[in-house]
Amino acid sequence: MRILAIETSCDETAAAIVEATDDGRLNVLTNIVASQLKTHAKTGGVIPDIAARMHAEALTHVLNQATENKKLDFDAVAVTSGPGLIGCLLIGQSAAKTIAQVTGKPFYPINHLEGHLYSAWLPPSEFSIINSQLRSLSEERALATFSMPELPALVVIVSGGHTELVLMEKHLRYKLLGATRDDAAGEAFDKVARLLGLPYPGGPAISHLAEKGNADAYRLPISLPEKDSLEFSFSGLKAAVSHLVGRLPQPLTRQIKTDIAASFQKTVTDTIVRKALSAIDQYPEIKSVCLVGGVAANEYLRVHLELAINMKHPETKFFVPELKYCTDNAAMIGAAAVFHALYGKSTPWQELVADPNLSL
Ligand code: KG4
Ligand code: ZN
Repeated sequence: MRILAIETSCDETAAAIVEATDDGRLNVLTNIVASQLKTHAKTGGVIPDIAARMHAEALTHVLNQATENKKLDFDAVAVTSGPGLIGCLLIGQSAAKTIAQVTGKPFYPINHLEGHLYSAWLPPSEFSIINSQLRSLSEERALATFSMPELPALVVIVSGGHTELVLMEKHLRYKLLGATRDDAAGEAFDKVARLLGLPYPGGPAISHLAEKGNADAYRLPISLPEKDSLEFSFSGLKAAVSHLVGRLPQPLTRQIKTDIAASFQKTVTDTIVRKALSAIDQYPEIKSVCLVGGVAANEYLRVHLELAINMKHPETKFFVPELKYCTDNAAMIGAAAVFHALYGKSTPWQELVADPNLSL
């Protein structure tokens, strides 16, 4: 089964074709993302009307590329239902509804967070091969060694809008263990980047700067540090960085900014590691931990969460998607749709109502 998936919830116009193979794996045939980041970097953030207009301008081209000029066929259509910016969601949804109506193919509205969650099921791209006859023996072997997360899984969703710990006991069944009370992790990166005079989006800018910094230069607070707490709060950390910046001589030197970036990144990572380990302690049935969402692209976080899990819970497997599947993309929407096709059902396209505040 092949799914054509569309994602336009924020600032990436994306379309992909994802295939479920007969042996139960996913295969990403195409994965096209037209990023608006350069435009939004000029204004320091996403302006919803501009984002929606850019989706409308880019989507036809992106769809053409994803279907290789309509040469690649598909059996069903999937689209992000929410959460996201309403004008942006509507562009992708009206295209997807039109395709479903005209072709009569099954339709799968997918929660954006569910898409991030299923990004952990996407194989690394070198394992995605369009024509199985072209697979060499070594590629066959590599594909055979890629395993999908085993359930129950703990999914750590860290994106620009969300920070959530989700327990997934079965496919399509989610139990929210904890979420942020205020800012999301990605939002904290973006806000702290602005305090340091770094460009939008803040995550990549901070992690790049932090590479040369001393992560122990400044002591920053971990919010809600109680052992059993699975909730997050990042607004206090942002305020602490703001006070620190205010106390230091201006303008900040490059070295000071570098050390603040490294200390901040370490504090966010320590927070996420602490909560994830606590969740595994509280739910010993967890077999896999999946780190997903835009902030999962952060190398320091990827490495340190994996190290901590290997050390404290060596029997628990760690999964993190390839970088291009961490930030917004449509392959993850297609992946979630495959599991809806397998374990759930399609939805008549007429029933989809865009929901900017949809929860998992
Ligand atoms: O998942 P995503 O692409 O969009 C949402 O659904 O929100 O996440 C975007 C967020 C932004 O806040 C961005 O700063 C952050 O992910 N991000 C990173 C990195 N790359 C993107 N944060 C930390 N380190 C990175 N390397
Ligand atoms: Zn996202």
